[in-house]
Amino acid sequence: MKPGIEWRQPRAAVENEQFADDLHAALSRIPKAISPKYFYDEVGSKLFEQICDLPEYYPTRTELALLQTHAADMAAQFGERVQLIEYGAGALRKVRLLLDTIPRDSLQFVPVDISGPHLLSACDGLAGDYPGLAIHPLVADFTRQHALPACAEGSRRVGFFPGSSIGNFTPAEADAFLRLAAAELAGGGLLIGIDLVKDEHVLHAAYNDAEGVTAAFNMNLLDRARKELGAEFPTDGFQHLAFYNPAYRRIEMHLRATRPLELQLGGEIYVFNEGETLHTEHSHKYTVDGFQALAARAGFKPGKVWTDPNHWFAVLWLEA
Ligand code: AVI
Repeated sequence: MKPGIEWRQPRAAVENEQFADDLHAALSRIPKAISPKYFYDEVGSKLFEQICDLPEYYPTRTELALLQTHAADMAAQFGERVQLIEYGAGALRKVRLLLDTIPRDSLQFVPVDISGPHLLSACDGLAGDYPGLAIHPLVADFTRQHALPACAEGSRRVGFFPGSSIGNFTPAEADAFLRLAAAELAGGGLLIGIDLVKDEHVLHAAYNDAEGVTAAFNMNLLDRARKELGAEFPTDGFQHLAFYNPAYRRIEMHLRATRPLELQLGGEIYVFNEGETLHTEHSHKYTVDGFQALAARAGFKPGKVWTDPNHWFAVLWLEA
């Protein structure tokens, strides 16, 4: 690790035990469903980076273009001195566009992510490219209470939550996260990317790419269960399923049983009927007005909005 990066330990042991408990609970409920956070081990995080570069997956390149064009205007909302907290930091690709517009001596950067090794290697790269930048990586589940480093004298806290990752939360989880963020960012604000409601074909293609990277990303959850928890099930027993559900304005991803089968986990046997699924992710699509109303209920005041000519994606500034 490069000098200048302060390593902060996770607050709780999140890993295997939690995964096992959550997978048992997921397989016991009807319908079967698990949190998408278990996609993101090292392999899953790398697969997600590949998804971001796929021609069908428009959100990343659309949001990047918005950041490239408007980064200075976005950063102008932050204030003079800032502690910038990136929720679910991942590869730290997008934040660079903001960092480029902010003087380094007026900035503390706190990337928060559950995947420790991935976060630290991304921070090493960032430290090399931004010498003198104060980086405080925090390995944590940012949807729970977490201890942020003290804010430098005269600084405001600003959250950055790009990628429409909030779309992967249920409406209740989105509300809970926004409330937590509004409290910890009080006096500052949140810059957030959201994926907008659009033509179903565009959405369908984005989650059913021709190369099968999204399928591999989805199936990685089962590979993890096998490798980390000793789960047993037929190798060809599941397939990737992703579709748009207009009633909820969301893409749903599932692992679908190709035939009747049993999945063994820690001495328990879970039965799948043919076609039965384990629901692995939903990805909600919003309207700008709808999202601003959600944020307002959680304690934010809507500010500037940046969107692309197709109105496929939007970045919103919200005052906390
Ligand atoms: C991280 N998140 C916003 C992605 C999405 O589009 O919902 C995860 C993803 N799932 C499948 N492809 C990408």
